[in-house]
Amino acid sequence: RRETRDLSTNRDSGKDNNGAQFQVHPRNKYDHDAPLFRRPMFVGDFSLDGKRRFYHDKRNLHYISMDWQTSKKVDYDLNVAMDKMIRKNFEETKTEKLDRLLEWILQNLYKFQTKDSSDKPLKCLSTDFVCFRGLLTELLCTPYESKEGWIICATKFRDTIYLCAYETPEKQSQRENATELQKTMSAWGYKFEQYMTDGSDPTKGVNENEEYCCVIRSRLESHSLVYGAEVDGADPSTYKTPHSDLKSFVELKTGKEPVQDRDYRALCRFKLMKWWSQSYLVGIPRVVCGFRNTDGKVHTLKTYDVEEMSSIAQDHWKPEIMLNFLNKFLEFVKTCVQVDDPEAVYKFQRECNGGDISCTYLGHDPQWAFMPKWYYEKAFS
Ligand code: A3P
Ligand code: MG
Ligand code: MG
Repeated sequence: RRETRDLSTNRDSGKDNNGAQFQVHPRNKYDHDAPLFRRPMFVGDFSLDGKRRFYHDKRNLHYISMDWQTSKKVDYDLNVAMDKMIRKNFEETKTEKLDRLLEWILQNLYKFQTKDSSDKPLKCLSTDFVCFRGLLTELLCTPYESKEGWIICATKFRDTIYLCAYETPEKQSQRENATELQKTMSAWGYKFEQYMTDGSDPTKGVNENEEYCCVIRSRLESHSLVYGAEVDGADPSTYKTPHSDLKSFVELKTGKEPVQDRDYRALCRFKLMKWWSQSYLVGIPRVVCGFRNTDGKVHTLKTYDVEEMSSIAQDHWKPEIMLNFLNKFLEFVKTCVQVDDPEAVYKFQRECNGGDISCTYLGHDPQWAFMPKWYYEKAFS
């Protein structure tokens, strides 16, 4: 299963795949039967408070009652108490890298014991990849993305490859040059979540730093995966602890009410694809979209079944292409990432404007290294 295990893992071999390329196009080479994706399993959770402090509990899990079927008329003004919003500081959150997830892993190492190792000290996680869900969402959408690039760094430690997304210079400049309207629209997304949360008071502000995160285990063909995923809420009528069934979770979105055909096409082609990827990875069955006008007033809620999204989009994007692409890319990562060293980094990069993917071995490079000492010194000691 671990085809890379027998290969030499000395420092120099890391350079063997330096400059290796992975082709995204033509994407029809990924157009065949979908690879096996095991039903995602909930393995744990944590919350982050308004100051992004870690809590090993469900304090920021929201309940969202879904006491209606496919659509509902509402009257939500997303501008209410905008001046009381506490905005997310992306400059700060990007320095978190994988830290919150690694913190959870350290506190839950017993969950990684296998039957054979249950009486011995833990030597490894027995998992091929550890990352956040957002990175997998971005990879799934890559065959259909012709503008935005991405940077993903990889570090292998005790046979597990940890993946960490970095902001590209282009995205950084978009973020730094965001217009007031773009900033307001981003705050509307959080405001909508507040309106949807049982027992909330929309005249109060929202602290955008607060989060509830699930930790998920799944497998894509031969690749076992553990990933963290921020989850918007759960329907209390079906939600039961401790064996949280992911089917109770709900993803919330806002979208511009489609007025012209063009708006509807954009919704199907781009938005539904992103919503599908994000929710499918976590086994979330429903996405609720609050359709808003240009002034930030939501008049309609609409529920989308994740399973039906690709047919609503009339095959403008195909889950099998996206999943086959992800499967092959993870295979490529396994071939490239040979050096097992918590301070060594491989950089995978897709330039903007839709090119191929390159792998660069950076060795010990403090600018890109992301595995903290407190993690690798403690995890298997
Ligand atoms: P929308 O979902 O309405 O776009 P998520 O849907 O992933 O749970 O994110 C919740 C909200 O956070 C989004 O609402 C959006 O407003 C905001 N958001 C998410 N990612 C963002 C980013 N990279 N930059 C700015 N805002 C973002
Ligand atoms: Mg969310
Ligand atoms: Mg959401």
